This record gives sequence, C-alpha cells and structure tokens, in this order.
Amino acid sequence: MTDENYWDLLMVDDFTASVYMAAYDEGVGSKTRMVLGEFINDGESVLDVGCGPGWNYDHFLKYGPEIGDYLGMDYSKRFVRVANVRNSGKYIHGDARHISQPDESWDVVILQDVLEHTNGYKDPVNEALRVARKRIIITFWRMNMTAGDVINDDGNDGWGASYSQKDWEAFLNSLKYVWHQYDYTSAYKHKRDYYIIEKEQA
Ligand SMILES: C[S@@+](CC[C@H](N)C(=O)[O-])C[C@H]1O[C@@H](n2cnc3c(N)ncnc32)[C@H](O)[C@@H]1O
Repeated sequence: MTDENYWDLLMVDDFTASVYMAAYDEGVGSKTRMVLGEFINDGESVLDVGCGPGWNYDHFLKYGPEIGDYLGMDYSKRFVRVANVRNSGKYIHGDARHISQPDESWDVVILQDVLEHTNGYKDPVNEALRVARKRIIITFWRMNMTAGDVINDDGNDGWGASYSQKDWEAFLNSLKYVWHQYDYTSAYKHKRDYYIIEKEQA
C-alpha cells in the first residue's frame, strides 16, 4: 500500500508542489486571496483546511489581515512537508472529513477550492462548522449551473467535482446558520464562488 495519495502523486515532486496554485495565478496577492482576506478580521485565528503549499499564510503576512493564530491542514503529506519548508506557518496532515481539532477551537475555518476534491461536501462542511467559533469560508473554483452534481470519485480523494449550485444552496438552507455568497468572473472566464457561513448568527 502506498503512503502517497492522489495529490502527492499529481504533484510529481516537491518543487511542483511548492509552486502549485501560484502557477494558476493564485499566489500571493491574487484576487482570490484578496477577496478571501476581506472575510477575516485582524486578530482572528484561522484553520486553513486543504491548505496546499500554504499560499494563504504568505498572502496574509503581506496583505493582511493580521492573523491571530494560523494552522494549515492538508490530506497530502507532500503539501504538508513543502508548506512547512516554504514559510513559518504551521502545517499538519489531516482530512477535511474528520478534522482532528476540538469543537469551536478556531475563529475561522477556510475550505478554499477543497470541496471539489472530497467526494461530496456534507461531511467536510459539518466538520468545519463543528471546529469553527465564528464562521467558515468556502470557495469553489467552478460550480455547475445547469445540471446536478458531477463527481469524479477516483477512489482516493477525488479530482475536480463540480457541484450543482442549486443543490448546494439547498443544503446551506437546511443548516441553522445565516450564509452569504459572493462571486466574480475569474481570469479563466468562469464564475468564482465564495460562501460564508456565519456561526454567530443563527
Ligand atoms: C485546489 S487545491 C487548493 C489548495 C489551497 N486551498 C489553495 O487555495 O491554495 C485542493 C487542496 O485540497 C487538498 N485536499 C483534497 N482532499 C482533501 C481532504 N479530504 N482533506 C484535506 N485536504 C484535502 C489537496 O491536497 C489540495 O491541497
């Protein structure tokens, strides 16, 4: 049995992993991260689930907000290793579907472009809500506006699901929290969606 998951293998080597996302114009100062930062206040603690090589930490250091405490978590051991070398943030191995953190232990939990890769979103969202005190922030690279969920389950951690926006929002409505959405058209000419679920506003 290999110790390497889909993303460890996809990244080929540590250098490839270290530039991942930045290679898609999603590095420090990218619009995606600038918008993300607007939903976080100075001093708040952040758990970044599915953090990849750790660009959010670099971004927050340069552009703010001033994060109180930061922990990155990723299912790929390669990303965890690379992120711990790339910057001074702390990164651990973990699964969005079973987050190894106590209830309400982080002000903000981020799931940035991660749910497309978890073969469904209910477990990760419920877990993020469990460990968050204030809010969770979710981004989608691309949602499905015309059909139901398209999930490509490769038996590992999945590649590139596109979820039905209608079904997703129905799921959000089934939760007891207030949520809001923001979107913009990315450089790749598709709609980039942000969802913020507020735990403090029932
Ligand atoms: C498209 S990348 C986004 C990386 C990072 N959030 C960013 O925006 O730069 C998706 C990330 O989700 C991670 N991932 C996939 N399945 C996961 C799971 N079940 N738990 C935690 N992380 C997961 C991958 O290893 C990868 O780092």
